[in-house]
Amino acid sequence: MTTLTFIGAGNMATSIIGGLIEQGYDANLITACDPQTQSLSQIQTTFAINTSTDNIAACKACDVIILAVKPQILKTVVLALKPALEQRQELPLIISIAAGISAQQIQQWLEKPIAIVRCMPNTPSLVQKGASGLYANAETNQQQKDIAQTLLQAVGYTTWVDDEALIDAVTAVSGSGPAYFFLFMEAMIEAGIKQGLDQESATKLTLQTALGAATLAQASDVSVDELRRRVTSAGGTTEQAIKHFEQSGLREIVEGAMLDCAERSKAMAKEFN
Ligand SMILES: NC(=O)c1ccc[n+]([C@@H]2O[C@H](COP(=O)([O-])OP(=O)(O)OC[C@H]3O[C@@H](n4cnc5c(N)ncnc54)[C@H](OP(=O)(O)O)[C@@H]3O)[C@@H](O)[C@H]2O)c1
Repeated sequence: MTTLTFIGAGNMATSIIGGLIEQGYDANLITACDPQTQSLSQIQTTFAINTSTDNIAACKACDVIILAVKPQILKTVVLALKPALEQRQELPLIISIAAGISAQQIQQWLEKPIAIVRCMPNTPSLVQKGASGLYANAETNQQQKDIAQTLLQAVGYTTWVDDEALIDAVTAVSGSGPAYFFLFMEAMIEAGIKQGLDQESATKLTLQTALGAATLAQASDVSVDELRRRVTSAGGTTEQAIKHFEQSGLREIVEGAMLDCAERSKAMAKEFN
């Protein structure tokens, strides 16, 4: 009977709510807040949850507050909630999915020790194929960690990190990761078209190959490098392509891109705090 209040009813909140409802979570226990009455009425019609344009009223008695607004406005949103939280006997668990803002920063805004779980989900959460990294601050108890895990598991895979700094690495791997694969798919589609395939065939072959490779890798009990070796017969076609990637420094490019991503995540924390 854990009551949940989502602050922000955009893409990520909607996907988490959708996942929870699909798993049988009681819609009466969920409230979504947003200034957009249009988004609220859509989410209300789809999931039959409670909705409100009043963040403060919706946070007066709930067990969990999920901060699902853009990082740029998180400080304003949290500061506005502070008086309501100060009046509460028992503090709620705060779950933040905002990129770049640390649990410690949210605690400083609230000026009191409070259980905070910081999560980094990704966009495939929209189709319940997400991957999220979670970090709990010292004030969070096991029951609260379980609640956070249930929420994020509703939209995919979850893993915990003990050190909040590792959320930057999670951002570099899975938070931004979908875009890397989209870029690679874009490049494959364009190259396929240049070799004479029509747009539709090049797109469908690429997407199905990406899906097939990920599904095979997940189902397999061997590592991805072993799977790659098994497709790469000596003197064959794949070997030529792999050689080209390796000689062009693909691994270094990926490593550099992910370092830049993690650095940006750290810099964002400074910008928005
Ligand atoms: N999408 C991703 O891939 C992804 C991945 C990891 C983490 N995240 C994080 O998830 C968070 C939400 O992202 P999103 O993609 O769901 O964004 P979104 O679709 O823009 O949703 C945010 C919602 O919050 C609403 N909002 C604005 N001010 C508010 C206020 N004062 N009180 C309540 N709601 C308010 C927005 O309304 P308006 O449109 O009117 O402003 C919007 O409907 C972000 O912090 C982002 O960093 C996203």
